[in-house]
Amino acid sequence: MHVPYCRTRCGYCDFNTYTAAELGPGVSQASFAGDLVTEIDLVGEQWHPEAPVDTVFFGGGTPTMLPASDLVGVLDRIDEVFGLASDVEVTTEANPESVDYDYLAELRSGGFTRLSLGMQSASTAVLAALDRAHTPGRVQRVVAEARAAGFQRVSVDLIYGTPGESDDDWRDSLNAAVEAGVDHVSAYALTVEDGTAMAAAVRRGKLPVPDPDIAAARYEVADEILTGAGFEWYEISNWARPGQQCRHNLGYWDVDAQWWGFGPGAHGHVGDLRLVNVKHPKLYAEELAADRLPLAEYEVVSAEERRLERIMLSVRLRRGVSPWSDSARQVLEQLVAEGLMTRVGERFVLSRTGRLLADTATLRLAEADA
Ligand SMILES: C[S@@+](CC[C@H](N)C(=O)[O-])C[C@H]1O[C@@H](n2cnc3c(N)ncnc32)[C@H](O)[C@@H]1O
Ligand code: SF4
Repeated sequence: MHVPYCRTRCGYCDFNTYTAAELGPGVSQASFAGDLVTEIDLVGEQWHPEAPVDTVFFGGGTPTMLPASDLVGVLDRIDEVFGLASDVEVTTEANPESVDYDYLAELRSGGFTRLSLGMQSASTAVLAALDRAHTPGRVQRVVAEARAAGFQRVSVDLIYGTPGESDDDWRDSLNAAVEAGVDHVSAYALTVEDGTAMAAAVRRGKLPVPDPDIAAARYEVADEILTGAGFEWYEISNWARPGQQCRHNLGYWDVDAQWWGFGPGAHGHVGDLRLVNVKHPKLYAEELAADRLPLAEYEVVSAEERRLERIMLSVRLRRGVSPWSDSARQVLEQLVAEGLMTRVGERFVLSRTGRLLADTATLRLAEADA
């Protein structure tokens, strides 16, 4: 469920999201949950998953810009139309300043099971460089409020490699996340995305280009601190306490998993089809008002694309890969000899160094029996 609204735009972010000023006339955030419900109804008339839905993820943008009752209403409709599994995992992303105890309690009693907070950093200077609205201590308070509201599963997103971030800032951020008591951490290297305010500042020389060697060193520190605190990596950028992996994330890295993406610009994967919705909330609302699915495009995934995706996605996971041919086995053994992979039983898994060079491993495996 993609909710394309944010109070302010962070300078590094190129996600499909709109502030009130960016949105333009003729469309309103207040009617957005109603649009999602209409889309769910329309999809339900044409497609039904083979089994009840076992994960739902509200992302954005900032889903928690909507009233909690809107999010719960959308979840209820998914249950009515598609059916939710009894152990369904329901996550929402949230900006730390956008939620409080009452809001979280309403989500929890409405069926949400997991919260993913955009912490990014524990440093005031780094948060300012990223244009974040919250102050460092806010995340710890929200984690405590989430626990009090009954959320057993809380994750934070962190960003490393922001210009001006020191080694100590990054260590402090990781330690603050661990001390806040979360069970899952996603840590992303800052990417300077074309078209963002940050890209313009880099182009004008006001900000340095992030240094990949610094990013690599920060990644190693993240793995060291999180592993030391009892977390395990399960995907290159994701660490969890045992049993707390995000089932929804794992679905995205399983080439055979199926999901429907609702909301403006959302992507889906159903059978052999990849589906993409129209991007702008106004066009999205207009399509639904005309009783049409708001699809922008779809494509049939070819067998070759599927082969490459299977390699790329499985390499990223701690589950690793098992050799599917003699030539793949040879490449995997060579990657072990070079220190990029380790062997775990019959499977081959990226080493810490290998995780910094996962694209190399993927390319070499893709060429193995091309
Ligand atoms: C699109 S945001 C949505 C969640 C929520 N609005 C927030 O910011 O907390 C999801 C995550 O993507 C990550 N992200 C977004 N843009 C990024 C960039 N340019 N480089 C690295 N990470 C980025 C941030 O860690 C963010 O928490
Ligand atoms: S990072 Fe999150 S809050 Fe910032 S603009 Fe992107 S979606 Fe919105």
